[in-house]
Amino acid sequence: MIAIGCDHGGLNIKNAVIEYFKENGIEYTDCGCYTDESVDYPIYAYKVAQSVATGGAELGIICCGTGIGVSMAANKVKGIRAAVCTDEFCAEMTRRHNNANIMCMGGRVIDEAKAVKLASIFLNTPFEGGRHEKRVNMITEIENGDFKI
Ligand code: RB5
Repeated sequence: MIAIGCDHGGLNIKNAVIEYFKENGIEYTDCGCYTDESVDYPIYAYKVAQSVATGGAELGIICCGTGIGVSMAANKVKGIRAAVCTDEFCAEMTRRHNNANIMCMGGRVIDEAKAVKLASIFLNTPFEGGRHEKRVNMITEIENGDFKI
């Protein structure tokens, strides 16, 4: 299950990614918003982040104008590693090295075709583990307040 959400600035690319989900039989839950009326992006970032953090969805995608605001909001939820991606390399590496569980994209930064491409890379790339596991665990330690340098 993939959780997906957006604000008005990311609606166009969210809809394109949802079309890709439908065409490929990918199960998803759409956390809104559903129109281009101006809304507050933290609401939708939180809905997707909660879905991922509680295990309702394995991965999430959140879209706003830049991808930045939703990533900031999502990363406040415990257990979330949200990454803003604007190109294929970052979409791949944030899964391989950071084990990102949410990807954020900007509807005012990339077009629909690029958003679909990045979504497919993000959803189909595994975490490499190994030396990266330790580093990702250190992020969790920071989150838990028990990180020691
Ligand atoms: C909305 O105008 C815009 O601020 C929002 O979509 C996002 O880009 C924030 O980071």
